[in-house]
Amino acid sequence: MLILISVATVSGISAGLALILILAEAVFANYGDCKITINDEKELTVKGGASLLSSLAENKVFIPSACGGRGSCGFCKVKVISGGGPLLPTEKPFLNAKEMAENIRLSCQIKVKENIKIEIPDELFNIQRFTASVIKIVDQTYDIKEITFKLTEPQKIKFKAGQYVQLETPKYKGNNQRVSRAYSISSLPEEDDIIQLIIRKVPDGICTTYVHEYLKEGDTVNFVGPFGDFYIRNTDAEMIFIAGGSGKAPIKSMVGHLKNLNSTRRMVYFFGARTMKDLYLTELFEQTEKEMDNFVYVPVLSNPDENDKWTGRTGYIPAYFDEFITNPQNTEAYLCGSPAMINAVQKGLIEKSVPREKIYYDSFS
Ligand SMILES: Cc1cc2nc3c(=O)[nH]c(=O)nc-3n(C[C@H](O)[C@H](O)[C@H](O)COP(=O)(O)OP(=O)(O)OC[C@H]3O[C@@H](n4cnc5c(N)ncnc54)[C@H](O)[C@@H]3O)c2cc1C
Ligand code: FES
Repeated sequence: MLILISVATVSGISAGLALILILAEAVFANYGDCKITINDEKELTVKGGASLLSSLAENKVFIPSACGGRGSCGFCKVKVISGGGPLLPTEKPFLNAKEMAENIRLSCQIKVKENIKIEIPDELFNIQRFTASVIKIVDQTYDIKEITFKLTEPQKIKFKAGQYVQLETPKYKGNNQRVSRAYSISSLPEEDDIIQLIIRKVPDGICTTYVHEYLKEGDTVNFVGPFGDFYIRNTDAEMIFIAGGSGKAPIKSMVGHLKNLNSTRRMVYFFGARTMKDLYLTELFEQTEKEMDNFVYVPVLSNPDENDKWTGRTGYIPAYFDEFITNPQNTEAYLCGSPAMINAVQKGLIEKSVPREKIYYDSFS
């Protein structure tokens, strides 16, 4: 009993001190104006105190931030030349020894309290914030919707098939924070006045609850992009695509784009799902098979329902690699889905002698 009281007392004092520190920071900390110098060529003057990520975004410099600044994706890395303070414990899990030595930092974790000099890739200057209106919402499965947005400002987007945007979520009943989340573009780069996203409902998820329960045709949304290095490499290698769930989004864009280019590269697309009710866009890919001699679509169910009367392939996707991968050394793999799925198929591909450096993926953690 005495131990419990002691623990409760210490926890209470710690929580109180933390609260006092937060309040003191909010009331007394005044960092004034700070300068952010980017790549030695662009200089921004910002009000100190906010995160580097949000200070840059306010000035239309958009750093990838799939988790919306929560410190859980590790996408928001920038190289800090000076300023920025010491490396924080929240950054360490996302940085390897080389990155730490080069002073790579997570921009969502650094607060701008002094002048800061940073370096970012030049292409990030091309990222834009878009306004768009919802023109179509289609239920693809019981938990996946495909939404089509017509761009209103700017009216065109240039992106590579496979890239993603960060959709902004407003406050709504039951959610009092604005967040942004990453979604791969499922439409084609050729259709540059719209974008389509395929969004799976996550229980209690802030953005997906908004999309599935509140978003309707005619609504206006904002998103930032395009981001990402998950795109088709321009080679003549054979291609293997593997996706599960909403991971179908970037693959739909990639395969559709290759079809428009009349690509002659050999392509196999494995789509993993649990049961038949998790399959979607099947007709689209069956039609693509008919139109392209060099494309094969292979849905694989891990746990088909008896009532499904499924006659297709079942079980574990790597079990079918021998059947479909004919030239592993000259094969590129494009994977999209949960980290567990990606780890499993990546292992299978490496065992099958697909070179590790030719395996590209976007992991939806
Ligand atoms: C590059 C990339 C591309 C992506 N593309 C797609 C796509 O095309 N389609 C798609 O559907 N998804 C995609 N995602 C995933 C997407 O970005 C979101 O992570 C996902 O939709 C969940 O967002 P949410 O706001 O609904 O859930 P969140 O609010 O982020 O919550 C997710 C889950 O975590 C739990 N959680 C939230 N906060 C905490 C916390 N502090 N502590 C513990 N648990 C917590 C919630 O209860 C919930 O179960 C992609 C992700 C990446 C990185
Ligand atoms: S934005 Fe996700 S870790 Fe910084």
